[in-house]
Amino acid sequence: MLEFILPLFLGFLALYLLSMRFRRTRRDGEPPLIKGWIPFLGKALEFAKNAHGFLASYKKKHGDVFTVLIAGKYITFIMNPLLYPYVIKHGKQLDFHEFSDQVAPMTFGYPPVRSGKFPGMCEHIQKSFRLLQGENLDRLTESMMGNLMLVFQQDYLSGGSQWRTESMYQFCNSVMFEATFLTMYGKPAHTNRHSGMVTLREDLVKFDNMFPLLIARIPIFFLRGTKAIRDKLINYFHPKKMSSWSNTSGFIKERAALFEQYDCLGDIDKAAHHFAILWASVGNTVPATFWAMYYLVIHPEALAVVREEIHSVLRVSGIEADLNKDIFLTREQLDRLLYLESSINESLRLSSASMNIRVAQEDFSLRLERERSIKVRKGDIISLYPQSMHMDPEIYENPEVYKFDRYIEDGKEKTDFYKDGQRLKYYRMPFGSGSTKCPGRYFAMNEIKQFLSLLLLYFDMEVVEGQTACTQDPSRAGLGILLPATDVKIRYRLRRE
Ligand code: HEM
Ligand SMILES: *[C@@H]1O[C@H](CO)[C@@H](O)[C@H](O)[C@H]1NC(C)=O
Ligand SMILES: *[C@@H]1O[C@H](CO)[C@@H](O)[C@H](O)[C@H]1NC(C)=O
Repeated sequence: MLEFILPLFLGFLALYLLSMRFRRTRRDGEPPLIKGWIPFLGKALEFAKNAHGFLASYKKKHGDVFTVLIAGKYITFIMNPLLYPYVIKHGKQLDFHEFSDQVAPMTFGYPPVRSGKFPGMCEHIQKSFRLLQGENLDRLTESMMGNLMLVFQQDYLSGGSQWRTESMYQFCNSVMFEATFLTMYGKPAHTNRHSGMVTLREDLVKFDNMFPLLIARIPIFFLRGTKAIRDKLINYFHPKKMSSWSNTSGFIKERAALFEQYDCLGDIDKAAHHFAILWASVGNTVPATFWAMYYLVIHPEALAVVREEIHSVLRVSGIEADLNKDIFLTREQLDRLLYLESSINESLRLSSASMNIRVAQEDFSLRLERERSIKVRKGDIISLYPQSMHMDPEIYENPEVYKFDRYIEDGKEKTDFYKDGQRLKYYRMPFGSGSTKCPGRYFAMNEIKQFLSLLLLYFDMEVVEGQTACTQDPSRAGLGILLPATDVKIRYRLRRE
């Protein structure tokens, strides 16, 4: 850690000198303002340590809407989920893309999309997200099934039925990373699997560890070694290399074709765009898969119900799971796995900590209820922090407890959840909201379902005794699914049926 302290200090010093800009006082009609005693940095350190607890304590003191100075930005938190719809539907005056347009290029190393240099690109990129949904999702899901089978067969299914040990996160990462990679980017010319996958995966983990600092806009040259790792990751997607891959998804193919239309986009810039999608497609999915698996494995009664559901869906389709043949679940079968879906949603509720951000495009008055509105200044950030809703005991009884069937009632999906006696429009938001909702969410749900189905059909699993319960590492708070603080040792063996 020591190697970070000097660069961080210099970074903060530079920021401090800028801080003269941040002497704001509360005006009439504005929410309570919380600044902290460190100019510029404001409450950043406290927020980073425990965002959920930090926000809960301010909510107690200042009510459900307040503004906090965090790392040079005035962020207004809307803490009451009954007020979420007023923020989510505000399209014109509140913009999400302004923020991501600044931060994503710096983080992943491509030139800003909306700089004026690339007319039309932003709209095309948004359009390309349709290729992750609808009937294109069928093709992706089918391809994912084949690739999961491939990785399972070659790496985990041979070797008989004796007990073996593994680290759970490591296991989820190696299977999901490679199968997702093959599904999105395709396979190399003459074999089924890419070389260098392990290194690529490990480099992505190293990059991901720096992700919170990059998102906080610490320049990459302060983060020792990170630039070199990112360059290596980006180079993996050099257009020359990618052009020899086959079975590439329509989504990636369309994006590659789009980038070809811009002469001022260099090969390395194109590669950096593809690299950003790699991060988006596994950065949250792998930890989400881990928590979904972890909670099932430590709740054998839940696991038994979910396993029986998978068997029964296969049985209804006239297929007994034959463990000697490849298993194939269609999208239609995946849709019927209600208990599995509820268990995944429950683990997302417990593990997601993303922050939904909107930037005010002008000074205006944001209406929050019939009789209530707050004044917002141009450039201010309006933020929802759904983890506070996910952990609200009024909405979810015993919110810290995993209940795999929390989202099921009378054999159907349960969608009514209440706060202050009013039914909530939004009660679970791991994928963001409104126009900036994650475009990969359907694919993500399907691939996690596929992974868990194969896992439960093929293996008996248990946590190796003598380990303490797995806790969450808070360092990604605000950015997505939290990582586990430590890995978990498991024993597994092939089931014989
Ligand atoms: C469990 C897994 C996942 C979670 C929890 C997740 C969550 C999110 C969240 C919270 C956002 C930001 C939305 C906002 O700010 O309102 C996002 C954006 C995005 N996600 Fe996901 N995601 C997951 C999986 C995926 C997958 C598998 C893909 C691609 C195949 C993907 C592609 C993207 C892209 C491209 C964006 C940026 C969209 C834009 O720029 O408008 N995600 N995701
Ligand atoms: C590649 O795609 C073709 C046709 O789209 C398909 O028949 C084949 O099974 C795919 N191969 C792999 C390894 O996924
Ligand atoms: C699980 O979450 C997904 C995505 O938010 C949703 O579409 C689905 O209906 C949910 N299913 C259950 C059973 O909660």
